[in-house]
Amino acid sequence: MRIGSRLLARGTLLLLCIITLQQCSAKPEPAQAPAVPAQAATDLTPVASVHELMRDIVDPISDLIFDAVGTEVTAKGSVQTEPRTDEDWAKVRQGAMTLAESANLLKMPRQAAPEGYVVDPTLRGPGAPELAPEQIAAKIAANRVLWDKFADGMRDEAVKVLAIVDAKDTKKLFEAGSQLDAVCETCHLEYFYPGDRKAVIDERNKKASVAPTKK
Ligand code: HEC
Repeated sequence: MRIGSRLLARGTLLLLCIITLQQCSAKPEPAQAPAVPAQAATDLTPVASVHELMRDIVDPISDLIFDAVGTEVTAKGSVQTEPRTDEDWAKVRQGAMTLAESANLLKMPRQAAPEGYVVDPTLRGPGAPELAPEQIAAKIAANRVLWDKFADGMRDEAVKVLAIVDAKDTKKLFEAGSQLDAVCETCHLEYFYPGDRKAVIDERNKKASVAPTKK
């Protein structure tokens, strides 16, 4: 009986310890924090408009990929560019990483153009070759799912480039550059200059691209 109650007491003690341990370990951060918070942050403050995101981030940063590899044919002969050093490849990775995350920036609701942005009505607006920011904003608002799909297309191409950087595959980098160019163009043909669709496609069919000879 005594043994029994002692055992019982020990059992209770053990149980108490487990409960206390659980309570103690419940206080700090969970050991395995989820990789992505389940809830999106609600206090995001977009700084750039779509126009500025393109001009100041997407366009210049994508050049780290576009300009990394290619053959320039001049009167003196052809000059081949390709990443050679680890630093060269690191630059391509910076381009791809920034571009991949820029897709998320594009998906964050933001203004089409900065406050007070004035367009030349002969270039942008109804009847002009390019849509005006208000028209772009209306198109995005009418179907955000489609807009997000174009942004995801850009992200997917950028993620492919990350894998190419890991493999240091120059030939694939060249191909990825033209695929990336195509995803930029596809979104522009939908939201920026939809009237140019035919001209752009004709131009694309005329262009020949030369892949680098060395791998
Ligand atoms: C999700 C759609 C989308 C994708 C993807 C996209 N763009 Fe854009 N881009 C736009 C829109 C919309 C505009 C027009 C913004 C404005 O009102 O000036 C634009 C404008 C531009 C401009 C003109 C900016 C200026 O100074 O007038 C450049 C350059 C540009 N994009 C480059 C790129 C490049 C390079 C890529 C791919 C790496 C790309 N964009 C991918 C939607 C996109």
